Amino acid sequence: MDLNNLPHFDVLPQHIGFIMDGNGRWAKERGLPRYKGHIEGAKTFRKIGEFAGDLGIKYLTFYAFSTENWKRPPDEVAAIMNLFREYLKELDDRKAENEEKGIQVNFIGSKKGLPKDILAMMKYSEKITEDKTKVYLNIAVNYGGREEIVHSVKLIAKLVKKGKLKPDDITEDMISRGLYTAGMPDPDLIIRPSGEKRLSNFLLWQAAYAEFWSSNVLWPDFTEEDLVEALRNFEKRNRRFGGV
Ligand code: FPP
Repeated sequence: MDLNNLPHFDVLPQHIGFIMDGNGRWAKERGLPRYKGHIEGAKTFRKIGEFAGDLGIKYLTFYAFSTENWKRPPDEVAAIMNLFREYLKELDDRKAENEEKGIQVNFIGSKKGLPKDILAMMKYSEKITEDKTKVYLNIAVNYGGREEIVHSVKLIAKLVKKGKLKPDDITEDMISRGLYTAGMPDPDLIIRPSGEKRLSNFLLWQAAYAEFWSSNVLWPDFTEEDLVEALRNFEKRNRRFGGV
């Protein structure tokens, strides 16, 4: 796509969530091991993240590894962890470029069980980008929507225990503020390629009013044009938020 001639949209989502599905099938179709699909998927993640940022979408959340993904074969898990390492190193190497683009990186998900070196690199990339406000890039690693809600509820329960909050005073907003996405707008659009029409524990609380877009393209084959198609469709939707 010609980056000097970007398409215009009357309405753009403020926040898009991407479920990067279909890497395994992409590899299988080519007789390759599954991890090769994740390598291609990571390339698509970079390409689509950059393009969505160029289009002016302010918040992007990519589902990279779920709390359930630990059940996969150890070599596949290790390959995905190595892709995170590579990307985290790249974030440091390309610090100046990302700074210019104004990208703030946030990792959402549980810290429990993640390798220590990855945790340290995550912390570092969050730190070096924390003052950037043009594009908020969330990467969901060791993320589960239910785990996230439990995490928020525990914070609230502690306040109640200390006598700082009455159970009857608990609000939806308090639960939102205890999530890993605290302070960010809820996603307007969730994109899931590869034909599945499930949320799979992704942004469960935040996606209450999100529009859902699915397509049959496998994530490694997902292009800028596919994103434009999803956005054209989003433009036409009539969002009522429970009203008429
Ligand atoms: C789901 O496809 C994909 C994953 C569980 C891993 C996604 C990870 C990446 C794209 C790498 C991300 C890298 C960075 C740097 C953020 P699947 O394996 O379930 O596909 P299938 O349904 O076809 O088997």
